[in-house]
Amino acid sequence: MAKSIGNKTNIAVFISGRGSNLKYLIKNSNYKNSLFRVNLIISNNSNALGLKYAEKSKIKFYVINYNNIENAEIKLLKLLKKFKIELICLAGFMKIISKKFIDKFNKPILNIHPSLLPKYKGLNTHFRAIRNKDKYSGSTVHLVTEKLDSGKIILQKKIKISKLDNVKSLEKKVLKIEHKIYSAAVCKFLSNL
Ligand code: GRF
Repeated sequence: MAKSIGNKTNIAVFISGRGSNLKYLIKNSNYKNSLFRVNLIISNNSNALGLKYAEKSKIKFYVINYNNIENAEIKLLKLLKKFKIELICLAGFMKIISKKFIDKFNKPILNIHPSLLPKYKGLNTHFRAIRNKDKYSGSTVHLVTEKLDSGKIILQKKIKISKLDNVKSLEKKVLKIEHKIYSAAVCKFLSNL
């Protein structure tokens, strides 16, 4: 794998909204001994709140129009090449990543999902965990394949659901651990390559 200056691997982070995981990925990438650098930020949504972290950190960001997924992915592949991206981190990115894109990029793509995969693939994970009276929830960082939320698990962390939890409080608890495990998972993945 090609390393960039300072021996950090260039990563791109894809977001659609709030971007709190992006915020922590940027924060952790700034540590001297971090294994990665956030070199590019992509959003399909020009109003994504998370874009403020791109502006603050002066990392290049692009808003990609997804009206036509094929055109969007062609643009993305060009940008990924231009910014020498070796790994993509999806962080609340709400668009499908096609098989064609995965094959053409031909480098790892990670995603963070707010459940203990393989439980609760897809949306509304916290609602489903509460409804089913689960004792635990958590978050999973996994490799992206063409099958939704199904790739190899890189890191997973479990938390306890209390009887008092509701969807909102559970989301908050899970998000807190996500902010720690995403960077840890990227480092774990990169150091095992
Ligand atoms: C996170 O809970 C992540 O697991 C899921 O989308 C949410 C994104 O949150 N894929 P944020 O935009 O990073 O704050």
